[in-house]
This record gives sequence, structure tokens and C-alpha cells, in this order.
Amino acid sequence: MVRVWWKEAVIYQVYVRSFMDSDGDGIGDIPGLISRLDYLQELGIDVIWLNPVYKSPNDDNGYDISDYRDIMDEFGTMADWEKLLELCHARGIKIIMDLVVNHSSDEHPWFLESRRSRDNPYRNYYIWRPGREAGGKKLPPNNWESLFSGSAWEYDGGTDEYYLHLFSRKQPDLNWDCPRLRSEILDMMTWWLDKGIDGFRMDAVHLMQKPAGLPDSKKKPTHREGYVNDEDLYSHNPGLHGIFHEMYRKVLSRYDVMTVAEMNRTTPAMANDYVAPEREELNMIFHFEICGLPQYVPGKKRIPALNRIQEKWYRATWGTGWNSQFFNNHDLPRQVSVWGDDGPYRVESAKLLGTYLHTMPGSPYIYQGEEIGMTNVPFGSMEDINDVSLRNEWAKCAAGGETEEHFLDRKRKWTRENARTPMQWDSSENGGFTTGKPWLKVNPNYRDINVEAARGDDNSIYHYYRKLIALRKTYPSMVYGEYKLLTPWNRRIVAYRRTLEDQTLLTVLNFSGKPGKFPLPRALVKGKGKILLSNYGRETPPEEGRLDPWEAAVYLL
Ligand code: NOJ
Repeated sequence: MVRVWWKEAVIYQVYVRSFMDSDGDGIGDIPGLISRLDYLQELGIDVIWLNPVYKSPNDDNGYDISDYRDIMDEFGTMADWEKLLELCHARGIKIIMDLVVNHSSDEHPWFLESRRSRDNPYRNYYIWRPGREAGGKKLPPNNWESLFSGSAWEYDGGTDEYYLHLFSRKQPDLNWDCPRLRSEILDMMTWWLDKGIDGFRMDAVHLMQKPAGLPDSKKKPTHREGYVNDEDLYSHNPGLHGIFHEMYRKVLSRYDVMTVAEMNRTTPAMANDYVAPEREELNMIFHFEICGLPQYVPGKKRIPALNRIQEKWYRATWGTGWNSQFFNNHDLPRQVSVWGDDGPYRVESAKLLGTYLHTMPGSPYIYQGEEIGMTNVPFGSMEDINDVSLRNEWAKCAAGGETEEHFLDRKRKWTRENARTPMQWDSSENGGFTTGKPWLKVNPNYRDINVEAARGDDNSIYHYYRKLIALRKTYPSMVYGEYKLLTPWNRRIVAYRRTLEDQTLLTVLNFSGKPGKFPLPRALVKGKGKILLSNYGRETPPEEGRLDPWEAAVYLL
């Protein structure tokens, strides 16, 4: 196993818009983040993944970029960003930037040019096609539904053609078959790397290469006008490997940086073709096989399914590639609310989930607020929702006759908006996030759940995360150790060993609110080996391997 810094790193994701507001406009910003760097350093993380901070009209909160080489006005200036990088590096913290190049904003100068005329030199930077006619009606070029609802094509009267947008209509897809566009993006990546960043998180890259000929989907319509939301058809098309290889060869290989690619629909069988070092493409990917389990796989089958997926990925990538570990991010609900218990066992279950993510094979990603056990939000009305994807979906469902109450009952627990409410710093108005009106309402539980309270309590989730991160730096087996699952059929208890040379760690987790049992190795019971971390504060192994609700422990054998 080759040892490299990004395998050892703990990565902390900052959704700048909701992290810390320094100027009272209700929107988090870079100076706000700078003011909290001491906090992140104390937590012990190694890398910050910054969600997009580039110039953007914010149709999709920064994932619609109008200038790849400048900073969003609400977030500050390039000088602020440079200061951030410098201060992070001075603390030994690296920064990776979000690279959003499946699409740009429709306000990007390239697109403004592109839509001017069919023979504009920038026309080919995007994907334009004539419409189809049926029964005297003008129809989009194919039946694709956007991942954000409605047709994936927008008609442009000026040139009488449609452009493709797999996300919102303000996010036109870039055309990776256009050599000039490709080299513009590579130049832009080089520009940021020369500024000293430490890598990229790459957005929705499985979609960059479209299927040849843009064929209709053959699946059942997902939209009343006959469109089909067919991400399989849009994903992992031939040519994608060529794009990553070119990025690597011409740009990334010249720097000591990491890449992590967001790639829905990736299977373990495909993984190594993207992440094996000799392929010269990517370092690791976010696959999403685990994320849907709480929603789609009911109680008793969920934990065995989780284990099966983890084992598959381990077998597929161990020793040949690398994996990432996460339960939540800015697109997913809060992990303690969907994987744990955000009621009576919030603290215990949040610690258990953290234990899992930091002791499994792969790099752990912490999403802001996870380290204090922030929870889902009791959204009461669509007026409290900003997210373009949920708003579009609501428009589609409302047109089909669904009531708002019914829609929210279906969506409340699963919407990504849960992750996006402001960070809860203290118990003052708006959780200390802003002195103004927050862009998105703060979770009403901020008076109890906040950083100040967590720092002042030795038994908090926050202090537990600090210990977890420190353990990862002390015990190389937590990073490089081979993984062996000991409980493949158990529905609630998850136990596994990580072994590197003569160092073996055992993690035992009770993924439930009921007491449980796991037979501990005899040597451990007899006092050989020790508890490294316990979310019940145990100093010796529990008798007969009994486990309290949501109990988690890491042992050195
Ligand atoms: C994935 C990002 O994580 C998400 O927030 C965004 O809406 C889409 N890609 C489009 O960029």
C-alpha cells in the first residue's frame, strides 16, 4: 500500500454560505470562515473542501459559475480568498476547491457569446440542437428530463435552437467534445493550482461526456409531458476516461494534490478504472450506493446492506485504489437524523456514526455541523425552502395536484435543504451565525445544539470527534490496516478489525436504540489490549460484551 497524505487526511467540508457571516448580510463569507479557522484547527482536520466560492448568480448556490477565476461578491474578494489559503497553510490545513465543469452559469460570458448566433466562435462550447416537430408542435431535441425536473432542454428564441441543461435551465452543460473548451478548463485548473490549492472535488463529473447522438431514453416517463429522468443514460459514457486522463497528464500530475470526484451511478466494478494509480485519472470518488439506504431499505435489512456495500467496495479498491467515507454532505439530509437517532440518543448515535466513518477503510469526510450533531430541520412551508431542485420538483408536483402539506411530508426528511441551514455557533440570536437576517432560517434547536455548548462539555460529540481524529493520526492501522468484517449477518451490531502488521484495532458498534451483545476476544477481556475510545466513557471492556443503545468502542487488541 503506497502511503500518501490524502489517504491519511480527515477532510472537512465547508458550505461557505452557511458557515459564518462576518458582515451581517445574512450570508456566510470567507472572512467569516477565516474567523473560525482556530476552531477547525482545534478539531484537528487536515483539509478543507470549499463548496464553490466563484462568481455566480446563485441559481444553485454557486454551482452555476459565471467566472471561474473570481470570487462571489457575497463571499468576499480574491484578496480574502488568498488570505484564507495563506492562513490555512500556515496552520497545516490544505484547501481543495470545487471544480464545477459539467456546466457553467447561463450568465458566463462563454454562454452569453454562445447564444448570440449559430456561428459564434463560442457556440460549440455548449450543446445546441434544433427542436423536433410533432403535430405542428415544437418539441425539445430528445425526451431527457433534467435532474432538477422538467425538460433538459431550453428553447432559445434568438437562434431557434435548444441548449442542454442536465441541472437547472441556468446551468447549461459544457461541451467536452469541443477542444477549445477543454483547453480553457485545463488552463483554469492550472491557474488555481499555481495559486497553491491542494486539489479539487469534482462536481457531477460522471455526466460530462454525453452519449453519442444524444438518443432518446427508452425508460418510462418520469414527467407528465413524457420526459424521462434517466441518469444512467447520461452517466459514464465512453470518452470520460479520456477526459480524466488528459486532466491528469496535462495538469494534475505536475502538483502534489488530491482529487475526489462526485460520481453517482459508479459501481465497484468500474471504480478502479477511475482510481487505480496506473490509470492516471483520479484519486478517489464519492459513490452514492450507501446514501439511499435509510430511505429505501427498511430497518432490518439496512445494516446488512451497508456491510455488503462496504465489503464490495473494499474488495474492489483495496490495495489498487482508494475510497471515501461519508454519510452526509450539502446534498443529503443530516446523518444523525437518518442513520442515527436525533431524539434521546442523539449524542450517542452521532458519536457512533463518527466512529464508523473514521475507522472504516477510506478517507473520512466531515460535513460542517456533523461534529456537533446538527440535525434535520422541521421545515413548515415551501417558503422556508431556497433549493432550486426542490422548488422545481414542487412546481411539477403542484401542477399534478399535490398539496404542499403532502409534498413536504414526503420530502421533509430527505431534502438536501436539511444540511444547508446555518452553522450553530452559540445560543445567541440565529445561533451566532449572523447579526443580520440569515439567508436560510437557522434550525430552531440552536439554543441547545451549538459549538459553544459542545466545546464547554467534555463529553460532547465535538470532543469525541477530536479524539477520533487524533486516533487516526496515532494508529496507522486505522488508515492502512486491512479490514475484516466480523458481523456480516447481524442486523444491528457492526464489528470489524483493521490490521496492519502487528497492530490490530477492533471496532464494535451497536447501530440501534436497543441493548445488544458482541463476544469480545478473550485476550481483551483478560486485560490484554485496551479501549482506545468509547462513547459511553468506558475504561474497561463491558462485561460479557454487552452493548448499550448506540454504543461504540474502538479497542486495540
Ligand atoms: C452536485 C452538487 O453537489 C449539487 O449541490 C449541485 O446542485 C449539482 N451537482 C449541480 O452542480
